[in-house]
Amino acid sequence: MTSHADGERDLISYLDFHVEAGVDAALDEHPHDRFGEAEAPPLGRAPARAARPAGPEEAPQRRELPPRDAPKAPPAQTYGRSAAAKPDEAAVDARAQAKETRSLEELEALLAGFDGCPLKFTAKNLVFADGNPASRLMFVGEAPGADEDRIGKPFMGRSGQLLDRMMKAIGLDRSSAYVANIVPWRPPGNRNPTPQEVSICKPFVERQIELADPDLIVCLGSPATQALTGTKDGILKARGRFYPYTLGTREIRILATLHPAYLLRQPVQKRLAWRDFRLLRAALDGRA
Ligand code: URA
Repeated sequence: MTSHADGERDLISYLDFHVEAGVDAALDEHPHDRFGEAEAPPLGRAPARAARPAGPEEAPQRRELPPRDAPKAPPAQTYGRSAAAKPDEAAVDARAQAKETRSLEELEALLAGFDGCPLKFTAKNLVFADGNPASRLMFVGEAPGADEDRIGKPFMGRSGQLLDRMMKAIGLDRSSAYVANIVPWRPPGNRNPTPQEVSICKPFVERQIELADPDLIVCLGSPATQALTGTKDGILKARGRFYPYTLGTREIRILATLHPAYLLRQPVQKRLAWRDFRLLRAALDGRA
């Protein structure tokens, strides 16, 4: 017989398995059996007596489970201020609103009230920035993970600790750099943000850069590099290079490098990141 303690252990290892696999965000109060829904006969219809091909008027209906609670989040495809808005409209909306902000505090408040990105509805917190916005250097990562989502600040987990060590190796810390992400809400289960989500959020990070006004930006990983430089190159090709970035009336530079999360998975590549960080130090010292 299975004891209560065995049952509890099984449940914990089942949950651990899901967390390990990245399934760590609850999107609804109740589970949905999507496979069962696809297979089961539509609700309210008697099973077909004889198999015959369904005509267009008999296209199988989706079997909807009755809602037990009012939904907490808007439907997955709701973008912008109205449910009818499309992702590109949400991006235009975001651009117009972001441009009007006059300070980083205003921009953060605007983002906190912006409903145009569906990621907001699955995230626990807005993850706006950390570090010193008055510094000459800004790091831009991809999107918050579970630790950042819980704490509400970027680069707080294992990749954040590695980033701190890399900064320390060239004499920097969070008082000498400003840190943000392309997307300020955690994608569920740590998946990559979609191109739509990036394009909706991009006007905000562009405004964040304008308001922080750094002399140099370091893009960590491919999504940040591609979004801010426009390159289509993968990060292993794009890294270690400077790209021009127009900031108001000045042209500053972006340096692309490897994301610390990638370095945790591929420690042998740290030597490339070390090269990039030495180049960063040289740029800050006016030697590159
Ligand atoms: N990875 C990122 O790109 N950003 C974070 O804030 C944390 C992990």
